[in-house]
Amino acid sequence: MPWILVGSPFIMEFPNCTVVDHPLVKHKLTLMRKAETSTASFRRLLSEISMLLAYEATRDMKLANVEIDTPLAHMAAPMLEGKKVVLVAILRAGLGILDGMLQLIPSARVGHVGLYRDHKTLESIEYFYKVPQDLADRAVIVCDPMLATGNSAVAAVERLKHSGPASLKFVCLLACPEGLANFHRHHPDVPIVTAAVDSHLNEMGYIVPGLGDAGDRLFGTR
Ligand code: URA
Repeated sequence: MPWILVGSPFIMEFPNCTVVDHPLVKHKLTLMRKAETSTASFRRLLSEISMLLAYEATRDMKLANVEIDTPLAHMAAPMLEGKKVVLVAILRAGLGILDGMLQLIPSARVGHVGLYRDHKTLESIEYFYKVPQDLADRAVIVCDPMLATGNSAVAAVERLKHSGPASLKFVCLLACPEGLANFHRHHPDVPIVTAAVDSHLNEMGYIVPGLGDAGDRLFGTR
C-alpha cells in the first residue's frame, strides 16, 4: 500500500476552515482510520471526537451574565444566551457526529436531512427533510463525517439557508481539497470545522487515505 501524508497545503486556500489538530483528536482519528477497528470502537471514537469538534464549533456562542448565589457569595456569572442551537445531521453518517455533539449540548434542537449520492453522477438527491420550524434567530450546525465531493453538504446548507438561520456552520470529521473547494465556492460565508484534511478524492468519490465508508463503519453494514 502506498504511503500518503495527511495534512494538505491546500488548506491555506480555505480561510473559513478550522482544523482541530488537538493531539487527542489526532490520536482518536488514527484509531478510526485503521481498517481493523471494530464497529463499536469506531462508533465510540466518532462520538468522542465529535464532542471535541463541538467544543470548537461553539466557541463563539453568545453569553450573558446572570445573578447567582454560590455557597460563598453572590455573583454575576455567564450563561448561554438566546435560542437553543440546532444540530442538523445529514443522514445517515451524520447521526454518528450528532450523538457526540448532543452529549456536550444536550438541549440542542435536532434536524435531519436525508441525502443519498447517486453512484453514477455523485450528485446529492434529497429524500428527507425535517428541521425545527423556527430556525430564524437560531445558530445551526450541520454535521456529516465526510466532506468528500461536498455535494451533500452544499445541498443541505443551500436548503437550510432558505429558512434564514442566524448562523450556519458545517462540522465534519474528514475533508479533502476537492470537497473544501466545492463547498467554499457555493458557501464562502459558512465556516467549516474538521479534524483533518486528507490528500485527495479518488475516482469513486472516496477520501484518500480516509477511513472508508463512514456510514458502513458506523452501522456495521458492510
Ligand atoms: N463518504 C464516506 O463515507 N467516505 C468517503 O471517503 C467519502 C464519502
